[in-house]
Amino acid sequence: MIEKTTHKIHFSNADDLSKVEDNSVSLVVTSPPYPMIEMWDESFSRQNKDISKALEKGRPEHAFELMHKILDEIWQECSRVLCDGGVACINIGDATRTIDSKRDGKKFQLFSNHARIISSFVDLGFSNLPNIIWRKQTNAPNKFMGSGMYPPGAYVTLEHEFILVFRKGNKREFSAKEKQNRRESAYFWEERNNWFSDLWELKGTTQVLSENGARDRSGAFPFEVPYRLINMFSVKGDTVLDPFIGTGTTSLAAIASGRNSIGYELESEFSSTIEQTLLLESNLELINNTIRKRILNHKEFINQRIEEKGIESVKHYNEWFDFPVMTRQEKDLTLQFVENIQKTDDNLFGASYVQEALLDYQGSHSLFSQV
Ligand SMILES: C[S@@+](CC[C@H](N)C(=O)[O-])C[C@H]1O[C@@H](n2cnc3c(N)ncnc32)[C@H](O)[C@@H]1O
Repeated sequence: MIEKTTHKIHFSNADDLSKVEDNSVSLVVTSPPYPMIEMWDESFSRQNKDISKALEKGRPEHAFELMHKILDEIWQECSRVLCDGGVACINIGDATRTIDSKRDGKKFQLFSNHARIISSFVDLGFSNLPNIIWRKQTNAPNKFMGSGMYPPGAYVTLEHEFILVFRKGNKREFSAKEKQNRRESAYFWEERNNWFSDLWELKGTTQVLSENGARDRSGAFPFEVPYRLINMFSVKGDTVLDPFIGTGTTSLAAIASGRNSIGYELESEFSSTIEQTLLLESNLELINNTIRKRILNHKEFINQRIEEKGIESVKHYNEWFDFPVMTRQEKDLTLQFVENIQKTDDNLFGASYVQEALLDYQGSHSLFSQV
């Protein structure tokens, strides 16, 4: 059972994670700035002036490589702080861009960020595990790029991003004492079947809120992305690191999952947005609704299963929740609602958890009591 978790944000360049000890992190979940996507040119160029020069001089391949060299240093730091068996999940999209190149004139091409990042992690000694395609369908009628209906000049539309999954070293080992916590960190059988698909569509995702729309301009991912990954690849009480924390979505998802978190962010002006992400009551409500929905979906799934199969019940029982589950591995599964989230110091937040097995939770907050 989890009583408290802590969430620290550092406003500095993630190429130096020296405030984080070697082997102290179990999971990295992050989405870096995407090389060769124009919205990130300025941020990369500020970190290395040669990048803007390469773009201006029409040397896109060189700019692409210099941008990835910046990310490489951060991947190396992630490798240092990850424990043996720790996992890194990197959300990245490829880029398409037309560049007026000195050598070739105007040229449209793909910059394969995901391939470049895979090779960086493999060079660092990680094993690449099966990756996830996150399909983000665009409905624009004119989504096809290039020369319309005349072959061969049209280009297929990029409608997906990747979530690359890497493991450092061997499979993680758990001591006898840690095994109970691992059992409590289980997910439901039917969730496993959905979450471990290599294609995520994530339609109708719930959005984390901020007051001034800052998230819209930040390249934030939806809450479900880090929430699933944290539940899939870490156990309760672990520390999750996001070296590109942006608006703080990964920390919110870590709170929802009973994990600690550390975030790094280069731009200190994100401070107030992160604070909103973590402290707005509506986001606490989002967390507890997510947990509530998992419990209700499970009950619905079991009822349907019983009806479809014409059986009395499924085979196993979860004593804590007092409801049936599909497998032995879900017998100790616990999901705890979040009681409150507070700022405890500069850039430090703490969350506390409800200690009872509740199927539903209205909380003591005004928003909950209105439900
Ligand atoms: C794609 S956004 C991350 C969005 C985040 N996943 C969210 O949900 O809000 C990338 C973030 O990395 C930050 N960043 C860029 N370079 C960095 C660096 N070297 N160290 C730390 N943060 C950096 C950017 O300022 C930006 O906020």
